[in-house]
Amino acid sequence: MLPKITTRVAAALALALPAIASAQLQNLYSTDWISIHQTLHSYALAVDSKKYSLLGETFTQNATADYGAGLGVLQGLSAIEEGLQTIVYGKIDGINSLAPVDSQHVLSTTVIDIHIDGATANSTTYFSTNQFGRGDYEGEVYHSYGKYLDELVRFPSPRAEGRWEGSWRGVEWRVQKRMLVYLGPAQGNVSIFLASS
Ligand SMILES: *[C@@H]1O[C@H](CO)[C@@H](O)[C@H](O)[C@H]1NC(C)=O
Ligand SMILES: *[C@@H]1O[C@H](CO)[C@@H](O)[C@H](O)[C@H]1NC(C)=O
Ligand SMILES: *[C@@H]1O[C@H](CO)[C@@H](O)[C@H](O)[C@H]1NC(C)=O
Repeated sequence: MLPKITTRVAAALALALPAIASAQLQNLYSTDWISIHQTLHSYALAVDSKKYSLLGETFTQNATADYGAGLGVLQGLSAIEEGLQTIVYGKIDGINSLAPVDSQHVLSTTVIDIHIDGATANSTTYFSTNQFGRGDYEGEVYHSYGKYLDELVRFPSPRAEGRWEGSWRGVEWRVQKRMLVYLGPAQGNVSIFLASS
């Protein structure tokens, strides 16, 4: 009886093991997907709250961000933080800051491609930005549309290192390389950036 049961158990295990392995892989994949999504979408919170130091939740220390015509290529996290504080939208006579407006970055379509190495990923995230004038420009808006093409790397997990700093937000990935591509022309009243902040 015993060998028979053992054979049956072995057979059952043989059937179950690939399923378990595959379920674990799927779990890992889901966890990474969610982490990458958090990393990408944290960007909007950092920029729209004007808490640029939070950009470290999105980019690596040595990330490169190619923002195209206005800002050019920013090399390194501190250059990205600095550059975004003086962001140029349709540059008007030296007035080139997000400071005079309220903004909302709407990140929508998000397609994430985690590479087979499990340590790198590429993603495409569509954005539209709504920028709202203040003061004399209250009620005026400016919109731009585009996508971020990102290359991400897995970041050493605070969980793995046994130290949780602040709340756990599942941010384990960072953007190493970003390219911004505008889709369609910007619309609205670009003069809102002239308001005194
Ligand atoms: C960025 O920094 C990481 C970790 O310090 C390093 O492994 C990687 O090679 C660097 N990449 C570039 C493009 O400098
Ligand atoms: C990731 O994106 C970069 C830049 O577009 C590209 O050169 C690279 O081949 C992509 N990697 C994969 C595995 O698709
Ligand atoms: C922009 O807004 C200002 C203030 O409301 C207004 O005077 C100006 O005509 C607007 N410009 C455009 C192009 O709509």
